[in-house]
Amino acid sequence: MSTVEAPSKTRAQIKERTLRKDNWRLYPITTFVIFTAWVVYATVRAFWGSAFYVPEYHYLTPFYSPCFNEICNNVTVDGHTGDAGEFGTFLPSGTRGWIPFAAISLPFLLLFRLTCYYYRKAYYRSFWAAPSACAVREPHSKYTGERRFPLIGQNLHRYFWMAAFLISLVNTWDAVRAFHGKDGGFGIGLGTVILVANVVLLWLYTLSCHSCRHVIGGRLKNFSKHPLRYRMWGWVSKINQRHGMYALITLGSLVVADLYVALVASNTISDLRIFN
Ligand code: FES
Repeated sequence: MSTVEAPSKTRAQIKERTLRKDNWRLYPITTFVIFTAWVVYATVRAFWGSAFYVPEYHYLTPFYSPCFNEICNNVTVDGHTGDAGEFGTFLPSGTRGWIPFAAISLPFLLLFRLTCYYYRKAYYRSFWAAPSACAVREPHSKYTGERRFPLIGQNLHRYFWMAAFLISLVNTWDAVRAFHGKDGGFGIGLGTVILVANVVLLWLYTLSCHSCRHVIGGRLKNFSKHPLRYRMWGWVSKINQRHGMYALITLGSLVVADLYVALVASNTISDLRIFN
């Protein structure tokens, strides 16, 4: 008769770091390169302090929205002047280069992404090697999970989600304003298309969040008494399956939107007009 051993409280003592034969390093290395490149780009752009707004077509980069520096008012590009600081400009121009123009939204967005379940998995694997992959021994001698400072702060994700929701509304307003033509009326350019596509992807990322799914469908005893919430929960659950993909795609769409606005605002390229 075979005996069943009680589970050990220590880790399995295996000499090899891993018995895996596949290319398990690919994911953490790729993630490390992509995240590092993105953080460098975003940091440089956030403190750049110019080429953020195209007054003629009302294109505002998402990296500077909402824009709070007094420089955001009376922006002149190519003979056109306009205001990007629609929500108030309380930051004096002297803080340029020291404090990002989007001083309120950027910290929340950063914390929102930093505490996102998908990003946690990604940077735990690629930056902290905790562990680098399934069935690969990690270099750390002990594991305390997210129960202690500072990682216990990951539980604040639901509050950062609420902030991100509000900021997505502001980004939506920016995209609506980008339907602006040369003569001051309605118009569409490639910049409009890029800003709208970016905001759609941002919404998909924000609404597919696990916290959003809980806000909509959590804490209910039964769905039959809440048909609308059930329907919304079903929709959010569907896009939730692709949350990791939206997390990654929006990194790219944010860079594309920012880069395009920067190139047009600095007169490096002209906006490709589709209508007016
Ligand atoms: Fe990724 Fe909430 S879990 S944004």
